[in-house]
Amino acid sequence: MSIPKRSLLKIIVIGDSGVGKTSLMNQYVHKKFRQQYKATIGADFVTKELQIDDKLVTLQIWDTAGQERFHSLGAAFYRGADCCVLVFDVNVFRSFETLQNWHEEFLKQADPTDPETFPFVLIGNKVDIDGGSSRVVPEKIAREWCASRGNIPYFETSAKEDYNVDYAFLCIAKTALEYE
Ligand code: GTP
Ligand code: MG
Repeated sequence: MSIPKRSLLKIIVIGDSGVGKTSLMNQYVHKKFRQQYKATIGADFVTKELQIDDKLVTLQIWDTAGQERFHSLGAAFYRGADCCVLVFDVNVFRSFETLQNWHEEFLKQADPTDPETFPFVLIGNKVDIDGGSSRVVPEKIAREWCASRGNIPYFETSAKEDYNVDYAFLCIAKTALEYE
């Protein structure tokens, strides 16, 4: 029997304040959801182990603050990332519009060897709200945004209902693994 290969993958989660970055991670790693909002200050990471084919993968998922006043994290923190997860709230148009800034800012700070091929994944969160009737960003628009930026994979999730969260993170892990 061969010894499984190990990989440590650094994942950075960014996006506007309140879109559900912390909630997605808590749901994925701890299977917990909290209704009450508590802003992330600075950044913190959690780890999750998973097996992908013959590889043991440790995801190091960095949760960051969306609030403007905590945006000074800087290059040191983004550097060495294997994948960047952009999150928006499908019910808040502004959080979709700012994706462009987050995308640009990440590339500027992380400064990957080849910005053209650096892997991003987009998540449209909170699809549970009002059974989807209050959403303002249609799936089609989000997919077009992804298509125009080198086919970024797109997932719709609900951290509250645990909808599509595992699946999205599995794809994130695979995407990061391919790039590593
Ligand atoms: P910052 O730390 O300020 O950047 O915010 P964040 O992106 O980490 O957002 P957070 O996970 O703290 O969630 C913000 C609020 O939205 C909280 O009150 C959560 O309970 C709520 N929330 C997060 N995800 C969902 C979801 O999928 N559905 C619903 N209905 N509420 C959610
Ligand atoms: Mg947070």
